[in-house]
Amino acid sequence: MVDEVMVFKHQVLTTHAFPEEWLRPLADTCEVNVLAGQPQEQTRRLLEQAEGILTLLSDKVDAPFLARAPRLRVVSNVAVGLDNVDLAECTRRGIPVGSLRTVLTEATADLALALLLAVARRLPEAAQDARSGRWPGWSATGWLGKDLQGATLGIVGFGQIGQAVARRAHGFGMRLLYTDPGRHPEIEAELQAKRFLLDDLLSESDFVSLHVPLTEETRGLMDASRFTRMKTGAILINTARGAIVNTEALLSALEQGHLGGAGLDVTDPEPLPADHPLFGLTNCLILPHIGSAAAGARRRMMELACENVLAGLENRPLGHCANPEVYRNPRAKTHHRVA
Ligand code: GLV
Repeated sequence: MVDEVMVFKHQVLTTHAFPEEWLRPLADTCEVNVLAGQPQEQTRRLLEQAEGILTLLSDKVDAPFLARAPRLRVVSNVAVGLDNVDLAECTRRGIPVGSLRTVLTEATADLALALLLAVARRLPEAAQDARSGRWPGWSATGWLGKDLQGATLGIVGFGQIGQAVARRAHGFGMRLLYTDPGRHPEIEAELQAKRFLLDDLLSESDFVSLHVPLTEETRGLMDASRFTRMKTGAILINTARGAIVNTEALLSALEQGHLGGAGLDVTDPEPLPADHPLFGLTNCLILPHIGSAAAGARRRMMELACENVLAGLENRPLGHCANPEVYRNPRAKTHHRVA
């Protein structure tokens, strides 16, 4: 007779469903449940038992949420942005938070350039005209867009994604300006990029691309006065967070013809209601937050997100920890799983 061995698995939650194969790294040691769609009582029970959780950028991981999950030992946010997570509260509770610092840089930079090119060359309008029969034949004057060669791109926020955008834009022959708290002499030399103050960058640039995180300082950064500073006909690209831009101010800058166009992968609110006036503007291209939606990037995101969960559950330091100060909090190491 074989002795029965009780195997206890770590209790892990995902706020939303992921394909099973994306969570395979957790399969041996974790029991994974999905929160979305659960009845209230089951949600309460799952949160109470959860030791690890995978969250999305649309989930609010704040003090009330964390209070419902007293056994939580790791939060793995499946995003590079962390504006949805109360990091200070996680640290206070001794919970390390995993982020995905590097794995979606290139995919997001690709998308910023895709938006920039599409709006500069009026692709949505041209494609719609071609499809709907408003295409009389080759036209010398139709669908004239903007040249990239020689145009100035102002990059607001020169972290990894901002720099990856700069490299691409350099390849298109664009002149590069950037804002950032620090200087980046090496990449300045490599790409002939120049650091500017924000207001000066806005008044010098033909294109402005946003790459700052959403914080209390950057919320509403692009407001009516900042749009006024931008050149007439300039184009705004936002692949960062919707709330960095004041939506009403953007709408009126576009409606008044001061801005030449906008390419937005993120909006405020998100999703933007389908009847929002921004959707009615032919020079505004809006995407459903797909910056990281490239197959390889998503695969690497999930590998890293799962690795962050496993590290947290095994009391190993997280490879990409958004609140490393948590390791100075003894609570981070003294949580032990109650079987
Ligand atoms: C996407 O916006 C992310 O932060 O991962």
